[in-house]
Amino acid sequence: MYALPFLDLPPLARAGGTVKLPGSKSISNRVLLLAGLAEGETRVHDLLDSDDTRVMLEALRTLGCGINHDGKVCVVRGLGGTLAVHEAKLLLGNAGTAMRPLTAALALLAARDGGRFELSGVPRMHERPIGDLTESLRQLGCRIDDLGTPGYPPLGVSGPSALALLQPIRVRGDVSSQFLTALLLALPLASNQGAMTIEVQGELISKPYVEITLALLARFGIAIEREGWQRFIVPANSAYRSPGDVHVEGDASSASYFIALGAIAATKKPLRIEGVGHDSIQGDIRFIDAARAMGAEIRTEANAVEVKRGAWPLKAITLDCNHIPDAAMTLAVMALYADGPTTLANIASWRVKETDRLAAMATELRKLGASVQEGPDWLTVSPPAQWHAAAIHTYDDHRMAMCASLAAFGGVAVRVLDPACVAKTFPDYFETLFKVAQAEPNDVPVITIDGPTAGGKGTLAAAVAERLGYRLLDSGSLYRVAALAALRAGLMDAEPLDEATIAALAAKLPLSFKPGRIRLGQEEVTEALREEAVGVAASRVSALPAVRRALHELQLSFRRAPGLVADGRDMGTVVFFDAPLKVFLTASAAQRAARRHKQLISKGIPANIDSLRADLEARDLRDTTRTVSPLKPAQDAQLLDNSDLSIEQSVEKVLEMWSARRPFL
Ligand code: DC
Repeated sequence: MYALPFLDLPPLARAGGTVKLPGSKSISNRVLLLAGLAEGETRVHDLLDSDDTRVMLEALRTLGCGINHDGKVCVVRGLGGTLAVHEAKLLLGNAGTAMRPLTAALALLAARDGGRFELSGVPRMHERPIGDLTESLRQLGCRIDDLGTPGYPPLGVSGPSALALLQPIRVRGDVSSQFLTALLLALPLASNQGAMTIEVQGELISKPYVEITLALLARFGIAIEREGWQRFIVPANSAYRSPGDVHVEGDASSASYFIALGAIAATKKPLRIEGVGHDSIQGDIRFIDAARAMGAEIRTEANAVEVKRGAWPLKAITLDCNHIPDAAMTLAVMALYADGPTTLANIASWRVKETDRLAAMATELRKLGASVQEGPDWLTVSPPAQWHAAAIHTYDDHRMAMCASLAAFGGVAVRVLDPACVAKTFPDYFETLFKVAQAEPNDVPVITIDGPTAGGKGTLAAAVAERLGYRLLDSGSLYRVAALAALRAGLMDAEPLDEATIAALAAKLPLSFKPGRIRLGQEEVTEALREEAVGVAASRVSALPAVRRALHELQLSFRRAPGLVADGRDMGTVVFFDAPLKVFLTASAAQRAARRHKQLISKGIPANIDSLRADLEARDLRDTTRTVSPLKPAQDAQLLDNSDLSIEQSVEKVLEMWSARRPFL
């Protein structure tokens, strides 16, 4: 996950490959609540691991449910419809899917069995309305106190109190369907005194989410009867029965970003998305129809979708989006690539989500050059005549961040502010995106950090890469692996070295990379590479032109979105000669020897400072005087002498140099 203040995306060009979706948020949190209320154990497979589900799990734990989450399967031991804890404070973040149904369930349980519970969230949660739900629960006889602004969380629910169960319970359906969902999920708790009827007032919005609720209640043994979308009847003596195992589908709203990606950028082969398909119970799967209307070529399977670019530019559409409120945000960004203005209608619910999404979307799309009109419940987006590189605010809204990433296909770089907010539903969104979306290599920004040995390049490069969310190439380690392989093959004893054989070996090294780790075949060689003998051998093999050629392509292949920090000797002069920022890091030989000495002593390795210095100087001489790619600053390199700088200060200096070169205001 990118826990950074911002993540810069280069202009992206193509997409292809396969995406495995994380579990659906809506299904995950409903299943967790039902499992928490049911008797016995429920094994939940493919549960989404995100902020919102963590909040729900924590709440259930506080309420006394047994939760055992081993990463793959989450086992929930439910309460069996009665309270195990009679007083608790629940912190529910910004998870509407936890706040609404837990309020209803706890209000009913407290009324029936007695107790006192407080439910609160982050400040934005306290701006999201819940009054229509609390009103319905009060009609029933539940005791609910507004602990802040009336009609909004935080709330206190308490009991016992007498419930008036026989008349129909009225709930508004035109602000958020989550109020109805909350009642449907919780009312079975009070159904032992007879059947209960819910009457929806106003036109019910987001019906597909109510369908998910009904389908999952059915999985837990509760068959709600309904008359149209106006009346819902909870049968008498409904009891939650665990189905044993439940599999959570992939998230259809999350799928929308990849369906859009395929429509925009899968020009050769389709992009395959696994986890949802035409068997999905999630309403947002109908985003597929909207994407098709915009020109995408889509093929569906029961549990997968394949998407390819069809019409290009995309076709502008006008659509009532009431049935796909969340995925409709993705259409607003697809509209940037359309052949005219696209209008999304009937989306008033956007205003009460994680942020006012109508205002947020209009403001941010305008920054990219689009012209946008916004009404109380509609949005019209006309594609930019001229794209602008832009820094996109995300308003602590996961969907704003994921949408912003899709704006990187307009030929300009896009900065996504606070990218970590995707953790609400899709913690690995950007990592997943970069696996299937590619930039033209020349568009991928590279920062090169060259300089003599033991100058701290490696540490500096790794820290800069981490701060920017960029990939890292430690090119010295490639020469070191080649040297290690040559040493093991007994090739380092010959004088002169057998250049062709070592180069052939270097060209075929079975390498695999994980952040900070290198494997040679099955073996983890990260530590072995740091040995002094390997360093000396690396210095020798790196002077062989054929070895340098053999490793050239491999180094270039690290240049992938979102960006690269490369350290070595010839990163700025040869390999990435077009890098927009080249740093040449120097420090006196005395300083470098002193640092290396300290490092070795701290590891308990005996060392002599004079011989270390002599060794460094010999290596400097070999690196700077060799005929091929000698160590020297690139003409356009910025010199950075870190003799008197801490690592943090050096990192800040490089980040300053970098931000001066970025197109964002
Ligand atoms: O940075 P290092 O000590 O891990 O590098 C090991 C050897 O590889 C060093 O002697 C210089 C050489 N090297 C090189 O020639 N070109 C590079 N880009 C990186 C390292």
